Amino acid sequence: MLEPMRLAVYPGSFDPPTLGHLDIVQRAARLFDEVIVAVGINRNKAPLMTVEERIEAIEACCSPMRNVRADAFEGLLVDYASSVGATTVVRGLRATADFEYEFQMSMLNRRMRPDIETVFLMTHWEHSYVSSSMAREVALHGGDFEPLLPPEVVPIFARAVARRRG
Ligand code: PNS
Repeated sequence: MLEPMRLAVYPGSFDPPTLGHLDIVQRAARLFDEVIVAVGINRNKAPLMTVEERIEAIEACCSPMRNVRADAFEGLLVDYASSVGATTVVRGLRATADFEYEFQMSMLNRRMRPDIETVFLMTHWEHSYVSSSMAREVALHGGDFEPLLPPEVVPIFARAVARRRG
């Protein structure tokens, strides 16, 4: 019997995608037939990178993985996941700080769409201190953000930082 294709959505702001994000994508790509890395568009936030830049950055660092693609979505994550036929949402967890927010979000998503499962993957300990907000903070103060990001993301993020710093 043919197994149904296992499609997972890995959502986030990815402003910018970090080494921690890439590590989660690599793990997810080994577990699922296809992974969509989905940039959530939040009109209430003022991101540093445009949606197009974030997609470009995800595509650049994920290109060796043939079963990974980038997309963007607006509105509820569960609606997007079901519209593309995904059965699973993947989120990364770092230490304990992420737990409360992730717990709340997964409960809410399950309440809205019980058929979509959230799966948490633990980030490699080496990346446990890395976050997009830290990368933005370091970069906007002129610090060296390169060690936090996949090399392919660096020039794309640097462009956005230069634009913001003027
Ligand atoms: O990387 P982030 O900023 O933690 O990602 C958050 C994201 C985009 C996954 C989350 O804000 C989201 O799912 N937004 C879409 C709106 C939604 O579905 N909200 C209900 C769940 S809290």
